[in-house]
Amino acid sequence: MDSILNELDALVVQALEEIGSAGDENSLRELEVKYLGKKGSLTAMLRSMGKIPKDQRPVFGKKVNEAKAKVADALQVRRTELKDADIRRELEDEEFDPTLPGLELPSRRGSFHPVSIVQAEVERIFEQMGFRILDYGEAESDWYNFEALNIPKDHPARDMQDTIWLKDGGLLRTHTSAGQVRAMQEYGAPLRAVFPGKVYRYERTDASHEHTFHQVEGLMIDRNISTANLIAVMKELLSAIFGYEVTVRLRPGYFPFVEPGFELDIQCMACGGEGCPVCKYSGWVELLPCGLVHPNVLRSGGLDPEEWTGWAFGLGLSRLAMMKYKITHITHFMGGDLRFFAQFGEPV
Ligand code: DAH
Repeated sequence: MDSILNELDALVVQALEEIGSAGDENSLRELEVKYLGKKGSLTAMLRSMGKIPKDQRPVFGKKVNEAKAKVADALQVRRTELKDADIRRELEDEEFDPTLPGLELPSRRGSFHPVSIVQAEVERIFEQMGFRILDYGEAESDWYNFEALNIPKDHPARDMQDTIWLKDGGLLRTHTSAGQVRAMQEYGAPLRAVFPGKVYRYERTDASHEHTFHQVEGLMIDRNISTANLIAVMKELLSAIFGYEVTVRLRPGYFPFVEPGFELDIQCMACGGEGCPVCKYSGWVELLPCGLVHPNVLRSGGLDPEEWTGWAFGLGLSRLAMMKYKITHITHFMGGDLRFFAQFGEPV
């Protein structure tokens, strides 16, 4: 037994020496086979088990396994050493230029949402006319969305706008008109402001209805504001958007927060008023509702209707974008299909 153990020790010493002086991965692999492989000399030691008295076999087995583990460790250590040396050599030898450009992959340009383009245009036009651009929240109270706009709890006009209610009694604003009284309270009079944003209705969607869409509200309050004033501003806006002098007309329309209230039509741009399928042969296309601010609404905003008058309009930005770009389905706007958006350029 002793002589075999000596042999084992000698083998380990020899293996460690050889491993220590191995110069590359190939030599290491050869040494691994030589000592630990199936036919390796350490593995062979286990086969001499037969020559050892039975009671000493467990001790011997353990020694051989320890020897194998030592050799395996040494292989691992040397392997790491060689790898480190390789990396160090590489760093010393090769010049690395961190300023070199990366691979030239074509980058994809994004595009603006058609509603954003139209909204930016409307904002720019109003800014030039001295209007403030305001931004109010989408979660609103019943008061600002309805009550303050002369629409009390049991008013039938509430049925015109199916509402998404929130658990706390609030709601998702059904129209940007909800900002009217907020703007009056915030800035008083005289006031010129537009406030664009998303509005929500509890609606089934189809080609022209969407539960989420965009409006821009316009509000002008001063002394002696009249319908003539409203028409002048609307003509200015629409001519700038459509790129030609538009002809407009007002029809009576009912909205509780304006008196009188109107529907503003523009002369059909497809036929110039002659009559065609676009305008259903009437020569006119309905564009936006508007009116003179109701005295009760001025009062809600803390303004004296004897002193102040104003006009307001609610323009459907989604609808305007559909007209401008001849988009037939409103559902494209919230659909998130990038191929649809890629058709539109940058805002002008
Ligand atoms: N808020 C109304 C709606 O969404 C539209 C509207 C009508 C706004 C008349 C106005 C207005 O400012 O004067 O149905």
